[in-house]
Amino acid sequence: MTNQTSTAKLSFGDKELELPMYSPTAGPDVIDISKLYAQGDVFTFDPGFTSTAACDSTITFIDGEKGELLHRGYPIDQLAEKSHFLEVCYLLLYGNLPTAAEAEDFEYRVTRHTMVHEQMTKFYSGFRRDAHPMAIMVGVVGAMSAFYHDSTDIADPWQREVASIRMIAKMPTIAAMAYKYTIGQPFVYPRNDLDYASNFLNMCFSVPAENFEVNPILSRAMDRIFTLHADHEQNASTSTVRLAGSSGANPFACIAAGIACLWGPAHGGANQACLEMLKEIGTVDRIPEYIARAKDKDDPFRLMGFGHRVYKNFDPRAKVMKQSADEVLDLLGVENNPTLQVAKELEKAALEDPYFTEKKLFPNVDFYSGIILEAMGFPTSMFTPIFALSRTVGWISQWKEMLNDPKQKIGRPRQLYLGETLRDYVDVENR
Ligand code: SDX
Repeated sequence: MTNQTSTAKLSFGDKELELPMYSPTAGPDVIDISKLYAQGDVFTFDPGFTSTAACDSTITFIDGEKGELLHRGYPIDQLAEKSHFLEVCYLLLYGNLPTAAEAEDFEYRVTRHTMVHEQMTKFYSGFRRDAHPMAIMVGVVGAMSAFYHDSTDIADPWQREVASIRMIAKMPTIAAMAYKYTIGQPFVYPRNDLDYASNFLNMCFSVPAENFEVNPILSRAMDRIFTLHADHEQNASTSTVRLAGSSGANPFACIAAGIACLWGPAHGGANQACLEMLKEIGTVDRIPEYIARAKDKDDPFRLMGFGHRVYKNFDPRAKVMKQSADEVLDLLGVENNPTLQVAKELEKAALEDPYFTEKKLFPNVDFYSGIILEAMGFPTSMFTPIFALSRTVGWISQWKEMLNDPKQKIGRPRQLYLGETLRDYVDVENR
């Protein structure tokens, strides 16, 4: 609940306004400008929302200066080390860590929603085999609203709950099916005897022709990658889901919108772009050439996997991801992976370069995740689908929070108009 703790005075022209201010449990105070237009006949202007809080939330908090990421108050490094993805899903959805009984019930409910309607398999055959898996996921997830009518009424709390469980449960199946389709292998059904991460790896890498055993170290690393990507405050794709949800759109349509936004290389598409960049660099001796390009204002090239809108010291997720990268590559006997060598040397070179340190451009979550996923056998085109799969619980948790907010209304930003003012139509013969 937002309680006024102080007042901001704003004076311009002949106006002297007093705006309420609220203090958070963590982070900066906020100035409530919701009445500014009515009282002052002016808009605020904040492209990219660098200084704008679009909502209040109790789910995730980021301190960009300290490199801190909390999910319902629990730091990400402790969750990555001591918890597991489905427990983090419960925490994000319901606000507290589950008891053993609550965890068992939640895992039972998710596990038994992992299959998709058999008719949905027909959607995949409409795509070219070389379709990007993200294109498939946007389409298939949006189409879920044509299959699960009994969980599209957002006014019904029970239907919101069922839709939430269905989304978390079915995204791995949908992502794995997208992968299998693009490599021409048969879909693999989910298995209820496997944990969430092992089930996903089995659906991606097992084939009917032989038995497949999921390596527990790889499934642990996979589970940790899911946890590290689960939620992240009001990032671009989460804000997209909230804005879509504010119109009353059904949850599957909202998640499809979030997937579409996440696809961009400045956001979730960065893990694919980062690995492709590391491969393009190829060898350690070519790193200076690329660092020079990243610093060149006339060159649109940016170091993918570096920089963040909020983190201005380090991304705590990147630190955990780097540990996992070392574990997985040691296990797979590819600790001398040339891409990993380039990544480590690039990180070192960038962090010694004043351009990056002064602009506070440090490795973000996407910098090491691609190296782990490639070592596991995923093509780069599957990196962002895995990010989307992980972030679904964050999107859904934020979507539910928005719907439960009594202040909630349809999102409708205004603008600074710089176009033509009123003018009359001119017939073509007079132009
Ligand atoms: C994710 O919001 C989230 O929480 C996102 C995310 C999540 O979990 O949801 O954390 C996931 O999206 C991580 C970010 C992945 N994206 C990338 O790795 C792509 C490369 N990074 C950049 O595109 C950029 O750093 C952003 C988009 C991530 C952040 O950009 P900002 O904060 O809007 O900063 P900016 O674009 O205004 O850049 C500030 C300065 C600029 O130089 P000047 O104009 O001030 O001279 O830093 C430079 C930029 O040119 N800069 C870079 C750079 N990133 C910013 N220069 C070289 N390489 C880079 N990567």
